[in-house]
Amino acid sequence: MARYLVTGGAGYVGSHTVLALLERGDEVVVLDDLRQGHRAAVPEEAELVEIDLADRDRVRAVLQAGRFDGIFHFAALSLVAESMREPLRYMAENVGNTLWLAEAAVRAGCRRLVLSSTAALFGVPERIPIDEESRLGPVSPYGESKLMAERGLEWAVRLHGLRFASLRYFNAAGADPGGRLGEDHDPETHLIPNAINAALGLGPPLVIFGTDYDTPDGTAIRDYVHVTDLADAHLRVMGRLGMEASCRYNVGSGMGHSVREIVAAVERVSGAPVPLVEGPRRPGDPPVLVASNARLRRDTGWRPHHGELDRIVGTAFAWRRAHPTGFPRIRAAPERARRVPVPLGV
Ligand code: UFG
Repeated sequence: MARYLVTGGAGYVGSHTVLALLERGDEVVVLDDLRQGHRAAVPEEAELVEIDLADRDRVRAVLQAGRFDGIFHFAALSLVAESMREPLRYMAENVGNTLWLAEAAVRAGCRRLVLSSTAALFGVPERIPIDEESRLGPVSPYGESKLMAERGLEWAVRLHGLRFASLRYFNAAGADPGGRLGEDHDPETHLIPNAINAALGLGPPLVIFGTDYDTPDGTAIRDYVHVTDLADAHLRVMGRLGMEASCRYNVGSGMGHSVREIVAAVERVSGAPVPLVEGPRRPGDPPVLVASNARLRRDTGWRPHHGELDRIVGTAFAWRRAHPTGFPRIRAAPERARRVPVPLGV
């Protein structure tokens, strides 16, 4: 059994990873300011420390007291379009929070960190599928912020003996097959939940962003990877840091699906039409993003277990139908605060 700190563990990918760690018997402390995350997404067995990563003194105190075997770092701003409007906030927050977190970890003697990174590092790719040797060239401040964070952490590898892995996610999608967790963003910008909401009458008609791409049906192609498979990749890669000081992996299913194929899958799964309108391209969207997951498979034995498109859409649909308003919004949390095991009086 190991003990992990999970920043952003109340968020979408973070909470599914927390669940996977708990199921394996590990101890988990979640650090989340609940700006985007949900208190109800943190299982009872995990401790929740409700603080902002920018609060460096308290982050240091958590690290010092926690005696963690490693950190999974999910907490970040993560919307490409928003980053085009607020580039400096994205850079300052994502880069600064990551590097100060690593500094606190190194000081506390915690030397393993897995970073939640992104396909946005590759910008408009030269070739498909995208492997780890593909040219890096972010075309958004969001992608740039993750690349800068990676580069900063590489210096901690060289000079502080940090062991660091970066997981470049493609499109995380789906929900816990056990129905315990799902995807709940506000505002929701992602394709699958927007299409499901439209089919269920819970949201406006879906807008297809661009029908004139150079793809077989004219809509953009993405690589959708089930969030539970993504969580599994995190656990495997953290294990890998026992052997390697620094590594990076692209995490995707290796298969591409167009926006229209997603709409068709939602209609199959829900049995309802997806009301939609065709709109212009969304700025910054590359036409095709598909991962090569060969390195991840080879090094860690990872395989997608929920990779079928209808499985991904089906689990997302089941969660949303069971939770039409998303996670319950629990405001006060005195009972939760009492369970926090670390001294936070800094
Ligand atoms: N799309 C629509 N309508 C919508 C939402 C999305 O047509 O309402 C389209 C997008 O244009 C895109 C595809 O559906 O072609 C997928 O869009 P998402 O917003 O679901 O996901 P992205 O591919 O834009 O974003 C993902 C990750 C980001 C990462 C980015 C890299 O969520 O973190 O890939 O480009 F940065």
